[in-house]
Amino acid sequence: MFFERISLRPVLPADLDVFFLQQLDPEGIRMAAFTPNDPADRAHFDAHWAKILADPNLTIRTILYDGQVAGNIACHAWFGSPEVCYWLGREFWGKGVATQALTAFLELLPVRPLSARAAKDNLASLRVLEKCGFRIVGSDKGFANGRGEEVEELILELR
Ligand SMILES: CC(C)(COP(=O)(O)OP(=O)(O)OC[C@H]1O[C@@H](n2cnc3c(N)ncnc32)[C@H](O)[C@@H]1OP(=O)(O)O)[C@@H](O)C(=O)NCCC(=O)NCCS
Repeated sequence: MFFERISLRPVLPADLDVFFLQQLDPEGIRMAAFTPNDPADRAHFDAHWAKILADPNLTIRTILYDGQVAGNIACHAWFGSPEVCYWLGREFWGKGVATQALTAFLELLPVRPLSARAAKDNLASLRVLEKCGFRIVGSDKGFANGRGEEVEELILELR
């Protein structure tokens, strides 16, 4: 599907500097909750991204908004079943970018069922998932580095 302002493309090395800054945003960290222990640790970030980009079972794309790197969207199976996740720079929030990016991503990735997780109070992410057809199938609870406390998360599935 083609969207006028939003497109997906493979990740380029130069995108990583942008992703690094985007994942440093305190409000994004609070929302996502389940983040690295120290998002400012660039060596850890680089090692994590080397693992992502080397994983043949992982699908990842850079999200472009009017040609700018707005964020990234991925599907991995690190916890068993294929699971989708995404992150946008704050200046791109509230424009429908995540919904359109996930819609496009789901078209290029036909694997089903597909899981997703979001902190129970990450209403924006839950809404994005709901609009793309995901339904809540369960919940979990775990320590969230992004908040320094236990956080309940919802597990969603697209069939
Ligand atoms: C979550 C995130 C991807 C949302 O991106 P976005 O492009 O702003 O999302 P969209 O504009 O496509 O849609 C957001 C939807 O949530 C709604 N929404 C946004 N903030 C909300 C809030 N605080 N409460 C309720 N709904 C909210 C919007 O109104 C919209 O729904 P609508 O179309 O029915 O009006 C973005 O905020 C982000 O990257 N956050 C940090 C990382 C993160 O949380 N990633 C997901 C981890 S599970």
